[in-house]
Amino acid sequence: MSVTVRVPAKVNVQLAVGAARPDGFHDLASVFLAVGLYDEVTVAPSPSGLRVTCAGPDAAEVPLDGSNLAARAAEALAARYGRRADVHLHIAKDIPVAGGMAGGSADCAGALLACDALWGTGASRAELLDLCAELGSDVPFSLVGGAALGTGRGERLRELEVGGVFHWVFAVAERGLSTPAVFRVFDRLCEGRRVPEPVASQDVLDALAKGDPDALAASVSNDLQPAALSLFPELAGALAAGRAAGALAAMVSGSGPTTAFLVRDAESAARTAQALRRSGTCRSVRMASGPAPGAALV
Ligand code: C5P
Repeated sequence: MSVTVRVPAKVNVQLAVGAARPDGFHDLASVFLAVGLYDEVTVAPSPSGLRVTCAGPDAAEVPLDGSNLAARAAEALAARYGRRADVHLHIAKDIPVAGGMAGGSADCAGALLACDALWGTGASRAELLDLCAELGSDVPFSLVGGAALGTGRGERLRELEVGGVFHWVFAVAERGLSTPAVFRVFDRLCEGRRVPEPVASQDVLDALAKGDPDALAASVSNDLQPAALSLFPELAGALAAGRAAGALAAMVSGSGPTTAFLVRDAESAARTAQALRRSGTCRSVRMASGPAPGAALV
């Protein structure tokens, strides 16, 4: 017997970051949009104990030990229900690794939901969301999907209305970026000035509600972008190539280094993707639209 869960990637259409808190995290106003690039997590009983395998183009970069967020999710749910995490977790990986698209968080939420179904724990949605929040700031959103405003570390969610489909092109960079490293550079770039409280942009929320790509393009923002660019200056080349190809907006996705290009429709997505591929500024190019549904059994 096995259970498979499909989980989407995300892009932040707004990422407002406050000053570092005493616990080292940063308060955020994070407007998440789930997009249709998916990882699939399959769990099956494993008499020999917890085991993780991964397949996909980036599989070699995924840790298969206890540090894997999917393994940690299985351990956390097992501990909560007083049982052993004796499962084989297989991750079919399509979301870029260390790319700022919440791929690790997706696997975490997927493993949690899959183990819950396999073990018949019957955990409530609220319990699963609490566990997600303990496991990582972006994990609750991977469970919920759609669009949501995340506050606190990003883990406290308010679901948002979305009035249409948004088309995106993503340029995957040659290497990954560490999220803590990007936040550290953010802190350094803020030294000596007061960092404002992060607040959600009404323009972003209105553009999402209307399903209006031009309005969204005019209001997207990412406070981590300067930090990501300072660690990875070559990203400027991908951003410029996407803009030159006619993208409505070009930005770093989350902590990067994936760059995200909002385009008007599927046809512009194909054109922009082609131009980015030819530009030689990235390793690969993906197209996806959002909002996409959250973690779900297949
Ligand atoms: O919550 P998560 O484990 O995904 O966070 C990874 C790292 O990103 C944290 O250890 C922290 O350095 C940084 N982070 C942060 N503020 C947030 C979310 C993450 O500083 N709101």
